Amino acid sequence: MSGLNSFDALRAAVMQSPDQVSLLLLYAHACMERRDWVEARAAFERVLVFEPDAADAQLGVARVLLHQGDVSGAAVRAERVLQQGGGNASAHVILSRVLLAEGDRARSLEHLQEALRLDGSVCDAVLEREFGAQLREARPAPSTEFTGESPPSEPESSTAEYAEPAGPEAGGEWRPEVFFSPGDPARLALGFDDIGGLDEIKEEIRLKMVYPLQFPDLYRAYGKRMGGGILLHGPPGCGKTMLLRAVAAEVPCNYFSVGLHEIFDPYLGSCERNLHQIFQTARANAPCVLVFDHLDSLAQDRRLTRDGPMRHLVNQFLHEMDSLRADQQRVLVLAATNQPWALDPAFRRPGRFDQVVAVGPPDDRAREQIVMLQARDKPIGQFDASALALATPGFSGADLRHVFERSAELTLAAAIHGGQPTPIAMETLLQVAAAHQPAAERWEQMCGLEPAPLDANPAPARKAVDRVSAPHRDPLT
Ligand SMILES: Nc1ncnc2c1ncn2[C@@H]1O[C@H](COP(=O)(O)OP(=O)(O)OP(=O)(O)O)[C@@H](O)[C@H]1O
Ligand SMILES: [Mg+2]
Repeated sequence: MSGLNSFDALRAAVMQSPDQVSLLLLYAHACMERRDWVEARAAFERVLVFEPDAADAQLGVARVLLHQGDVSGAAVRAERVLQQGGGNASAHVILSRVLLAEGDRARSLEHLQEALRLDGSVCDAVLEREFGAQLREARPAPSTEFTGESPPSEPESSTAEYAEPAGPEAGGEWRPEVFFSPGDPARLALGFDDIGGLDEIKEEIRLKMVYPLQFPDLYRAYGKRMGGGILLHGPPGCGKTMLLRAVAAEVPCNYFSVGLHEIFDPYLGSCERNLHQIFQTARANAPCVLVFDHLDSLAQDRRLTRDGPMRHLVNQFLHEMDSLRADQQRVLVLAATNQPWALDPAFRRPGRFDQVVAVGPPDDRAREQIVMLQARDKPIGQFDASALALATPGFSGADLRHVFERSAELTLAAAIHGGQPTPIAMETLLQVAAAHQPAAERWEQMCGLEPAPLDANPAPARKAVDRVSAPHRDPLT
């Protein structure tokens, strides 16, 4: 695929998942490269809606404003970043450009020097032209990198705590941002015990990846292989992402989580090539788990993307899944989406994701487990987990977390004004719950589904886990 197509694929992914911050940032930087300031600014501003303190997005907007000649607007954004503390070389570069545009050469140079002090590799073509000679005189060993426009910065996490796995074929070019080797203690930070309900999916994952390593002879005797594919789908906030992450603590093998921006990054290569390398890395590190959250961004229904760049990507993904199966690779591919209707139907054909599981709002028992987990580290007087679970039918895990957070805020405010700290009252939790509309109801309305009756003890179809063949409210059926 050409560079242009990579950009188109990235744009299509952003359209599909407009709330994915890492994708938005990548897209914004790609728009900057193409000098599409309007689109770049819109993408950076959208990041700020989700993460108001995101320095990268704030400085992205500042750079756009600078290009558009709004120097005071750029200065305000850069200063806002510096007010967050910790120093930021790019913010100083922008202020240096602003001051240069305003004719204050001396202060412009001060900011540039501060930027270089913080990060010797910062680069800006305009400032290089203006101050390059001066800086070279001042510095005995001039930086050869101080040329050209600033490239988009690498995500900070790309090098942090990265342990390099064995690469595909010759050395491996995919450098996963989230990788846990079997002995990595960081993988234990979140486990299945931290997740309420979802017992059947947990067991399904153990059957595919934990027990085969514990009882290889038994699996051989029954002719069962390890690995395969499980696709989770369901309304937001019901624990899909949490479960994907918790798998790392349970499976005693390599674990890779794929950030969608790693596939769509036009600076790395074409999307299909990136995807191929990801699967090759998984093969080379088998047994392993390969995780794709928000699969809808890359697996859009080909009927909706005729001739588009996503079509090639979907084909590539299907091809990779098929060859994993054909080669009997010991890889478990786990994926999740909250937009199952947008997925290409080919993903649900047997042999690709052999299990497609609906992760719906938790039932009474699971809600009780979740509220007990939420209450773990909070001061609560006379807590009755079962009463709260019964009072919150249709609530997702995220809704329940909101109830605790909001109640804690209200109690804290009362403590500040009353001058006396008090535990969170059961009554407050119940009142906050009564005032809250569960997010899953809104999702079901979007799917064109009637919200389920909010009675106690939902029928089996409302169980946290169900095979795609079962739940009648499943938007995939
Ligand atoms: N089963 C659960 N047990 C404990 N906490 C949960 C559970 N489900 C959700 N939560 C809480 O809700 C938060 C959001 O859940 P999560 O991000 O896993 O939802 P999701 O299904 O991936 O949503 P989305 O479709 O929007 O990506 C979690 O961080 C956790 O605090
Ligand atoms: Mg999620």
